[in-house]
Amino acid sequence: MFDLTGKKALITGSSQGIGLAAAAALAQAGAKVYINGSNPEKVHAALENVPGAVPAVCDLGQADCGAILYGITGNIDILISNASVQYRSAWDCITDEEFDRQIHVNFRAALKLIQTYAPYMLERKWGRIITTGSVQQRKPHKDMLIYAAAKAAQVNMVQNLAKQFAPFGVTVNNIAPGVIETPRNDAALADESYKKQVLNGIPASYIGQPEDCCGQILLLCSEAGRYITGEDIFIDGGMQL
Ligand SMILES: NC(=O)c1ccc[n+]([C@@H]2O[C@H](COP(=O)([O-])OP(=O)(O)OC[C@H]3O[C@@H](n4cnc5c(N)ncnc54)[C@H](OP(=O)(O)O)[C@@H]3O)[C@@H](O)[C@H]2O)c1
Repeated sequence: MFDLTGKKALITGSSQGIGLAAAAALAQAGAKVYINGSNPEKVHAALENVPGAVPAVCDLGQADCGAILYGITGNIDILISNASVQYRSAWDCITDEEFDRQIHVNFRAALKLIQTYAPYMLERKWGRIITTGSVQQRKPHKDMLIYAAAKAAQVNMVQNLAKQFAPFGVTVNNIAPGVIETPRNDAALADESYKKQVLNGIPASYIGQPEDCCGQILLLCSEAGRYITGEDIFIDGGMQL
């Protein structure tokens, strides 16, 4: 039901964390996967965890990231736009650099990659596009205003494109993780009192693992998910409630 044999998939930000777990799950389901990150060493280290994976190093902050990645991957069937950067600053201390970097990597890159890869999917009448959002679409952290706003903008783009692409067999969905144990959160969660505070906000009362996102991703990528589009699916132990 979730067989992806013969499909090509690019997962951005897959050198670690949620993206790496997604890449491993897609490879296990039979897809040929491309591993992306901006750091070549991390990308090459990640290849060891994903049999048959191909490196696709590219900094998504670049306006021409679509063209660069297309030069490596060619046409693909599945795009998971997952990479992001996150800066903590109070609302009145956000710098232009922080603004630009988060908007470019977290929002513009998703659009650029869809502009690059969707035409082939639309022509072939089969394609899967998933963006990774965040529980912050609903519950923004006070010191991550731009990060949260970019994730919310991304959902709006997903809904816009899902309607336009549906007649062509191309689904577009967003997954919105809550708190997932990845390298991004290592330092913050090492602080026991902060971790306790975080856990208090999660009805399931535990922190998720990257693999908790994989069932949903596999469903959306496979034939079983063909009738699901324009959705915004929280994977958060109830945190958004
Ligand atoms: N973990 C959570 O609790 C959580 C919660 C809500 C939403 N999310 C979302 O889930 C997604 C994955 O999060 P994660 O926790 O797995 O993140 P992570 O551990 O910080 O990993 C981020 C990945 O993105 C890549 N990346 C970052 N900037 C990049 C750039 N400019 N160009 C290309 N690749 C770049 C990183 O590789 P390099 O370092 O080599 O660039 C890495 O592979 C993100 O969109 C995040 O916003 C995560």
